[in-house]
Amino acid sequence: MLLDTGVGGLTVLRELRKVLPNAPVIFAADEAGRPYGTKTEAEVAARVSGLLGRMAERYKPRLICIACNTASTIALDMVRDVLETPIVGTVPAIKPAALSSKTGVIGLLGTAGTIRQPYVDRLEKEFVGEGTLLRHAAPELVEPAEQKLRGEPVDRAVLAAALNALTEHPQGLYIDHVILGCTHFPLLKAELEDVAVFDLGWSPDVRFIDGSAGIARRIASLLKDEKYARSDPDFAVTTGNLDEFKRLSNVLEDLGLSRITQF
Ligand code: DGL
Repeated sequence: MLLDTGVGGLTVLRELRKVLPNAPVIFAADEAGRPYGTKTEAEVAARVSGLLGRMAERYKPRLICIACNTASTIALDMVRDVLETPIVGTVPAIKPAALSSKTGVIGLLGTAGTIRQPYVDRLEKEFVGEGTLLRHAAPELVEPAEQKLRGEPVDRAVLAAALNALTEHPQGLYIDHVILGCTHFPLLKAELEDVAVFDLGWSPDVRFIDGSAGIARRIASLLKDEKYARSDPDFAVTTGNLDEFKRLSNVLEDLGLSRITQF
């Protein structure tokens, strides 16, 4: 089972389908709780642990992936303490960015909740070391990602503002990797790359990276000895408005989620 506040978790599911095409999946969207990124730590922790507890009881998943950086960086340890189900988190791809950066200057776009977490401080200390991690909170990119998947246009100015905020810092001109540290943001990757190069004059060599493929590999390795059979079609549940969620039915169907229900 994968949990996010909305379509962000689909970026992890997309990669998961590549490595585990036959694994039965439940995709859970806590749309009634979105956004997590502007809530307090206590609110996110209480919501995620309560919701996952109820979902684990109802669906009995073999593994849970918190496909949300905000929820993972805040509540992963707490949820692992209370649930017996193995849990995989999603945290900003600081390690791969740092390993492949040549300038040592890395940008991080995430929600306000994510970028201030001690979890991110620890990843920075361990992997960026003497390099520089420039963090910018861009919760205003979450809704454009939702809108894009509902077939609505994306406002390039909102994307440009987020990228400009990274280069306002004196070292910002040396950024060679931008980490998309919210699972919603890879849905805007093509637009972000386009805005960076054509609207803002960034080098086309700047790489936008995220951790979804790594998360999928981690899930696959944890499930490598499991046997599955899909008796019913995979499904998606929302805690929010079902009619609104059904506007995503084509996108969900493309990822093998052919039933849509309410939690
Ligand atoms: N997709 C979530 C993340 O990765 C954030 C979206 C939200 O703020 O609800 O952080």
